[in-house]
Amino acid sequence: MRALILVGGYGTRLRPLTLSRPKPLVEFANKPILMHQIEALVEAGVTEVILAVSYRAEQMEQELTVEATKLGIKIIFSHESEPLGTAGPLALAKKLLEDSDKPFFVLNSDIICDFPFKELAKFHEMKGREGTIVVTKVEEPSKYGVVVYDDNNYVESFVEKPQEFISNKINAGLYILNPAVLKRIELRPTSIEKEVFPGMAKDKQLCAFELEGFWMDVGQPKDFLTGMCLYLKYLRTKNPSILYKGPGVVGNVLVDPTSKIGKNCQIGPNVTIGPGVIIEDGVCVKRSTVLRDVKIKSNSWLESCIIGWRCSVGRWVRMEGITVLGEDVIVTDETYINGGQVLPHKNIVSSVPDPQIIM
Ligand code: GDD
Ligand code: MG
Repeated sequence: MRALILVGGYGTRLRPLTLSRPKPLVEFANKPILMHQIEALVEAGVTEVILAVSYRAEQMEQELTVEATKLGIKIIFSHESEPLGTAGPLALAKKLLEDSDKPFFVLNSDIICDFPFKELAKFHEMKGREGTIVVTKVEEPSKYGVVVYDDNNYVESFVEKPQEFISNKINAGLYILNPAVLKRIELRPTSIEKEVFPGMAKDKQLCAFELEGFWMDVGQPKDFLTGMCLYLKYLRTKNPSILYKGPGVVGNVLVDPTSKIGKNCQIGPNVTIGPGVIIEDGVCVKRSTVLRDVKIKSNSWLESCIIGWRCSVGRWVRMEGITVLGEDVIVTDETYINGGQVLPHKNIVSSVPDPQIIM
């Protein structure tokens, strides 16, 4: 089977991290977001993945070609010369997608869940319509595409980012589509949510598959951290042996084996520590992601933070309130940062008590 992953957005909501790496390559629980998806697709029998790219394609091509060889699959890069939105990329890859009459998966690249690809394919075949979208329930539906469907799971209407409450069932950003859907899509910048799904719903050609378990769009820092907590909880039931055990560890924690943790630390609950990280003595980290090659010096205290690659956090530093440090930021000893979004390569020498972007 085939899959197309939409990896072309600018990832502006995940800045400052996406100033250094495209969103799909940012590590979520120590693995690029995109690799969580590709591995799940491979497990469901996908052998060919088309990556629809429009921005920072070179970096993605380099890193993913290596991964494709490891997994024994084919990754094809479909380059857009201008961003084609969420439907245009399907028209661009039309030749690849319609050379068999089999359905294909389509994915947004910033979704984390227990991917139900096998069950989705079965359900889609049983329903026999042009497309099936995965739906999940959320508390704040206005940020998403809202889906209304009948008792037989036929979609009646699809409204992208509605201003008024319609339903709390939303588009989870995972689809399976028959090649017939390609007839509905023109080769121009166009939105699958606004211009394709509403028409399919009207023609009764769209079904809804209800997702079980956790789901999160991790495309912004707040949701990235919430998604990390949910994912670690899921690992606790699915694959507990990969969670870290050691002195000072509290709750669900993932630690790369090449990182070092000092004495009298409290790591967790809900922390991921990437490769090559050095944490000195007496450090407390809670509900945070620490990316590759970071150094956190003694007695610092971090909660609800994402610490970018190669940052150096001084001694007795306190950071909280969804603080995000871009790549290679240096935080001086004894500073306090609350909700700071710090651009790459900055040197922070004084405290930042209120949430702000630090350029
Ligand atoms: N190739 C390509 N070209 N990809 C794009 C482009 C483009 O021009 N624009 C966006 N994408 C990709 C993004 O990288 C992402 O993987 C996906 O399309 C969706 O874009 P987002 O910017 O993340 O959209 P969203 O989160 O606001 O809303 C979408 O996802 C929600 C679920 O998280 C919609 O599909 C909603 O209906 C849905 O509920
Ligand atoms: Mg998104």
